[in-house]
Amino acid sequence: MKARLATLTVFAAVLMHFAHCADTEIPWCYHLSSCNDSVWISRPYGVCNETRQSPIDIETTKVKVDANLTAFTFGGFGNNRTMKEITNTGRTVKVTLRDGLVTVSGGGLSTNYTSLQFHLHWGNGTSIPGSEHTVDNKRYPMELHIVSIKSEFNGMTSQALTDPEGAAALGFFIEEGDGTEQPASWKILTNYLANITNSGDHVNIIDDLSLDDLLVGVDRTKYFRYLGSLTTPTCDEIVVWTVFKDPIRVSRDLIDLFPSVYFNTSSNSPLMTNTFRNIVEINNRTVTTPSSAVSKSYSTFGLLASLAMLPLLHRT
Ligand SMILES: *[C@@H]1O[C@H](CO)[C@@H](O)[C@H](O)[C@H]1NC(C)=O
Ligand SMILES: *[C@@H]1O[C@H](CO)[C@@H](O)[C@H](O)[C@H]1NC(C)=O
Ligand SMILES: *[C@@H]1O[C@H](CO)[C@@H](O)[C@H](O)[C@H]1NC(C)=O
Ligand SMILES: *[C@@H]1O[C@H](CO)[C@@H](O)[C@H](O)[C@H]1NC(C)=O
Ligand SMILES: *[C@@H]1O[C@H](CO)[C@@H](O)[C@H](O)[C@H]1NC(C)=O
Ligand SMILES: *[C@@H]1O[C@H](CO)[C@@H](O)[C@H](O)[C@H]1NC(C)=O
Ligand SMILES: *[C@@H]1O[C@H](CO)[C@@H](O)[C@H](O)[C@H]1NC(C)=O
Ligand SMILES: *[C@@H]1O[C@H](CO)[C@@H](O)[C@H](O)[C@H]1NC(C)=O
Ligand SMILES: *[C@@H]1O[C@H](CO)[C@@H](O)[C@H](O)[C@H]1NC(C)=O
Ligand SMILES: [Zn+2]
Repeated sequence: MKARLATLTVFAAVLMHFAHCADTEIPWCYHLSSCNDSVWISRPYGVCNETRQSPIDIETTKVKVDANLTAFTFGGFGNNRTMKEITNTGRTVKVTLRDGLVTVSGGGLSTNYTSLQFHLHWGNGTSIPGSEHTVDNKRYPMELHIVSIKSEFNGMTSQALTDPEGAAALGFFIEEGDGTEQPASWKILTNYLANITNSGDHVNIIDDLSLDDLLVGVDRTKYFRYLGSLTTPTCDEIVVWTVFKDPIRVSRDLIDLFPSVYFNTSSNSPLMTNTFRNIVEINNRTVTTPSSAVSKSYSTFGLLASLAMLPLLHRT
């Protein structure tokens, strides 16, 4: 009983780390062989060895259309004052959102979710890609994750940890775009990296900047859906994943700025690189997609399947 309580406490601490800023006792990392993702599968790191883990490779020929996957409603994404603070957590760069202002509903989700934070995963600039999810084995330079929990939990992350759909994560790929210092929204965001060079550094976001500004160029009706986990210890299997098909295009110079912050401090650590978990087995899970997303031929199979459906549709 006591052990169980301790475990729950650790889980809570980790999601709090994931969501807010509390530190965790589990010394997981990306950059040392003693604590990187190859050792997370042992018990102290949680349930990382289980069968509903993330990230996965999305094999587009195996994606199934699900008509229940409707359009999302994004609340507060256009509000340019929702971003509170940007932090170097020692494992990622995270932006916390002001309480209750950002919501996600629809999109086949069973209930409304409130967004707590977003953070990023990257490799080593544009030379080594570092997205977490891959699509047909393609890894993008970066991936942005917006993390939300059910609105009914009123921000209490401990409650999300006991619910198999307690959290909803929105994943956006980032790929290299044209020009320099583009888009302007990403120039504003990356300007803050110089203020959070060392682990634990954090500064308030004082610019007007909205999530819509950052998510430029993404058709948010086109996405993949599957059930998975947190991608960091303790890897709790509580996440409804949405991975958008279209990438955000960000110029190379800005992507290259992410490895200018440190895992620890500039005096005793390498630059922050390769902040992603390697893909894990999909096991018995299915990745689904809205029917509206099929038109853009993401797979010959999907296209053929939808053509094959045409006679059926005409009959009804
Ligand atoms: C993680 O550490 C293992 C050894 O424990 C090593 O083989 C592997 O290459 C490391 N992975 C990364 C991504 O550094
Ligand atoms: C994960 O590890 C735990 C503890 O060693 C074990 O009980 C459990 O069966 C493992 N799960 C899988 C899917 O291997
Ligand atoms: C779609 O929703 C209906 C009604 O909630 C449900 O019965 C059906 O199983 C769902 N279909 C899929 C593919 O999840
Ligand atoms: C869920 O969100 C939608 C869209 O913002 C809103 O219309 C609805 O009232 C919300 N439902 C609840 C129970 O808060
Ligand atoms: C990242 O790239 C820089 C510059 O190209 C290089 O010096 C460094 O060794 C690379 N680090 C890793 C971990 O690949
Ligand atoms: C970030 O650092 C720059 C340069 O040192 C400084 O001018 C600016 O005020 C800092 N911004 C914040 C929000 O602290
Ligand atoms: C931020 O939003 C306010 C209110 O909608 C608007 O007046 C202002 O122009 C916006 N600022 C920027 C930089 O977009
Ligand atoms: C970070 O630096 C501190 C102070 O030197 C050191 O105690 C700690 O072990 C370092 N942590 C990592 C993960 O390198
Ligand atoms: C996958 O397997 C797990 C564990 O064996 C089971 O609980 C779950 O219901 C299965 N899911 C599907 C979609 O078949
Ligand atoms: Zn993430």
